Amino acid sequence: MVGIYRSRFLSLVIVILFTTMVQVFVWVAFSSLYLPDPSTSHSLNTDRMDRDKECKCPTRDPESETCAPPKTEEVGRDEGDREQRMDIDDDRDYLEGLGVLKDSQHYLLVALVLSGPDSKSRERRDTIRETWKTYSNPTEEPAILVLFVMGTFELSAPQLESVTHENQQHHDLVLLPNLKESYYNLTLKVLQAFVWADQNLRFSYLLKCDDDSFVMLHQIADELSERTSTQSYYWGFFDGRATPKKGGKYIEKEWFLCDRYLPYALGGGYVVSADLVHKVALMSDGVRLYNNEDTSLGVWLSPFRAERRHDSRFDTEFKSRGCRNNYLVTHKQSPGEMRTKHELLQSKGMICEQETAVRKAYEYNWLVEPSKCCQRK
Ligand SMILES: *[C@@H]1O[C@H](CO)[C@@H](O)[C@H](O)[C@H]1NC(C)=O
Repeated sequence: MVGIYRSRFLSLVIVILFTTMVQVFVWVAFSSLYLPDPSTSHSLNTDRMDRDKECKCPTRDPESETCAPPKTEEVGRDEGDREQRMDIDDDRDYLEGLGVLKDSQHYLLVALVLSGPDSKSRERRDTIRETWKTYSNPTEEPAILVLFVMGTFELSAPQLESVTHENQQHHDLVLLPNLKESYYNLTLKVLQAFVWADQNLRFSYLLKCDDDSFVMLHQIADELSERTSTQSYYWGFFDGRATPKKGGKYIEKEWFLCDRYLPYALGGGYVVSADLVHKVALMSDGVRLYNNEDTSLGVWLSPFRAERRHDSRFDTEFKSRGCRNNYLVTHKQSPGEMRTKHELLQSKGMICEQETAVRKAYEYNWLVEPSKCCQRK
């Protein structure tokens, strides 16, 4: 009896020893395969050793716990390339999710519609999808792409789920993960949207508008395609005499350049050529963010040679000037008004049953001081 137990005990020990050896062997083999190559561990790694390895930095800054820029040029190029590759791969996945990448198509016009995660904005997006967005066709000439932009930083789980679901349906959302939706972040939102477009899309012109703007997409695209040069173009309804607010909701604390804002196109809708978008993207790290996002763009673009084309067919002030059939953009439209315009456009080829004028427009006089630029007559 005792002999049987001993031999069973011995074989158990042998089995345990064997499996342990196998485990150790497998572990060693796999860790030698994967661990030493930092390019496969992603930057989400928070372990200090991994981070050191990943950044390969002899000069890790102990204060900020981040990697100081590598000293030698060779390491720098290597790391930079890798980071860039990762970014491109991430963006590629994301863009394929959007359904816009495909053959890295070139768009004549990309419309970025600033929108939000709330249900009212959702209704506006759906209205735009059923109305003026139907005039965009990414694959036919002129190639036009319409995308809605919103920040997703600190969104609630249900909001994020709803937005994700919406994007799976429509593939037309640009979700900015580092942007918290808030009135005081609008300028940052425009800036990030410009940077995103510059890095991810090939296009000639960008139209920025709001989700309560009715846009005559095909007409804008037609006029753009007739231009001989696509360079340095800033097209909209300009203001050069606006004074920064000294108090209230729209208070402008950062402004110090002069008594008035610099000339800028009003935000209900304007067009900027891709080269100017690129210049803004290049400066994006260092530019001052004013409270007013439209003003901010005017300032960012102020040093650059560009054709600033004032056009009163952009009805883009804080309230609509009325209805005119030649309007390219009509701001402050309710979903109902958008549908009415769309139906008229489809049935009669016009957006106003009867033209109305609530307030006058002005022509911008570039030959006088900006404070006298904009006389309504
Ligand atoms: C703006 O966005 C940033 C980053 O998303 C966030 O940390 C900040 O609180 C936001 N600012 C406001 C005023 O909401």
